[in-house]
Amino acid sequence: MANETVQPGDVTQRVGVEVIRARGVDVEKLIKMLVANAAAEFASTYYYYTILRMNLAGHEDYKEICEDARLEDRAHWELIVPRIYELGGSLPNDLKAFHDQAGCRAAKLPDPPTAVNILTLLLESERCAIRSWIAVCDITFGKDPRTYDMASRILNEEIEHEAWFIELLAHERDGKSVPSGHFRRGTPGEAPYSKNRGFYNP
Ligand SMILES: [Fe+2]
Ligand SMILES: [Fe+2]
Repeated sequence: MANETVQPGDVTQRVGVEVIRARGVDVEKLIKMLVANAAAEFASTYYYYTILRMNLAGHEDYKEICEDARLEDRAHWELIVPRIYELGGSLPNDLKAFHDQAGCRAAKLPDPPTAVNILTLLLESERCAIRSWIAVCDITFGKDPRTYDMASRILNEEIEHEAWFIELLAHERDGKSVPSGHFRRGTPGEAPYSKNRGFYNP
């Protein structure tokens, strides 16, 4: 049994890792994917969305939706980072190196920073997030319930984010109504699926 190779008192090995490796998870690959996704959440999304949101001045309704997406990406970051360490991985010590490993392109302020250009960027960045998180779901499904649970909760919100920005871009660019089904969050950035409040912020 794989989980019996860890000797009593051994702090260099993890049963939590051995059991998922025994079920076929490529743990090194998974850690790489999680670091890339964490970088995308923190650097690409949370950081750049802050700048993008600042430049939606005059569109207070868009700013409010953008704020939910921005804060929920921070929740994604906070949810997934502890998992990287549990798996025996770590974040790069160098912020620039970390930024450059992001699995999605940096969502830099477009030129000119019109609402249409900003919303297009936001939409495409949510689409990248959906693709990145479902890839984590794919390699953990049925093998690593803990990572799968986290990734699927994040994915829930990324899919909602895509729908929000489709609605806003269709309205702003095409004058079309493409409802997202968005209901107001209870508080900004509530992150109903991914918030780890229950674990770390009681
Ligand atoms: Fe996210
Ligand atoms: Fe998102």
